[in-house]
Amino acid sequence: MAQRLAVVTGASSGIGAASARILVASGWTVVLVARREARLREIAARLEAFGAGRCVVEPLDGADPDAVAAMAARVRARFGVPGAIVNSAGAGVWRWPEDTPPAEMERLLDAPYRSAYHVTSAFLPDLLAQRGGVIVHVGSPASIVPWPGATGYTVSRWALRGYHEALVQDLHGTGVRSCHVMFSTVTSEYFTTNPDSYAHAPSLGRWIPAITPLEAAEVVVRVIHEPRDEVLHPRVLQALRLGERFAPGLARRLVRATGRQRYGRRAS
Ligand SMILES: NC(=O)c1ccc[n+]([C@@H]2O[C@H](COP(=O)([O-])OP(=O)(O)OC[C@H]3O[C@@H](n4cnc5c(N)ncnc54)[C@H](OP(=O)(O)O)[C@@H]3O)[C@@H](O)[C@H]2O)c1
Repeated sequence: MAQRLAVVTGASSGIGAASARILVASGWTVVLVARREARLREIAARLEAFGAGRCVVEPLDGADPDAVAAMAARVRARFGVPGAIVNSAGAGVWRWPEDTPPAEMERLLDAPYRSAYHVTSAFLPDLLAQRGGVIVHVGSPASIVPWPGATGYTVSRWALRGYHEALVQDLHGTGVRSCHVMFSTVTSEYFTTNPDSYAHAPSLGRWIPAITPLEAAEVVVRVIHEPRDEVLHPRVLQALRLGERFAPGLARRLVRATGRQRYGRRAS
């Protein structure tokens, strides 16, 4: 493992904040990235009061490549090259295609996809030069089998997964790892920040136990220490992956049947 310096996006809430908490508790220096500066400062003060590590607050929009590049330059100059990047910035309401006008689609791509792309790209030459580092992308099972009524959300998660899959190929043999972790429902602020989304959740998803941000973060941190290309948590989600691989029609039909329908016949 390269140095114990991590850049964590989405650090003002949910999985990102919880990942930062575990890392700071175990002595890492963590660069906290999100748009809400006051929230980041509050979290940094709390983490430093109890953890062995330290926090650096970098308020920015991950979809802004210039702001990300400036942040990366500051981090590089002050601390060096990160050993880990956690791309957990993410937002996006679950909507049907005709409720997703072009401007909304652009916003949906901002996080996770654009943010993960810009933050990773800003540090990638450094990671390659040091021949090590772990990039953890926090994604969604919607990037395996989408459910109805979450069009733009799904597109952004598939873009993230596509970026990750491309990196796995591109980075092979370099010592730098790209890892994609996908969770069931996480009891973060996500569904408050993105109201009405949960109403589109397939009932299938509701049978899978929800997990806390801390449980999700434990998985993220485990992957930093033991990198894997893909992790689905909890394990029951792996049934979706197997279904998509070996019986894709059936997997889609099942997820469709347990979601809300707007167009056409139910589960036809
Ligand atoms: N919650 C779930 O049930 C669940 C399940 C599976 C996967 N996921 C995925 O995991 C990711 C994180 O979810 P979460 O549950 O931790 O959500 P959350 O509690 O709402 O946190 C999202 C974080 O992303 C940040 N963010 C959003 N847009 C940003 C942008 N453009 N630039 C920088 N930061 C941005 C937010 O901070 P600011 O507003 O301060 O910028 C916040 O810190 C999402 O992509 C989500 O789809 C969530």
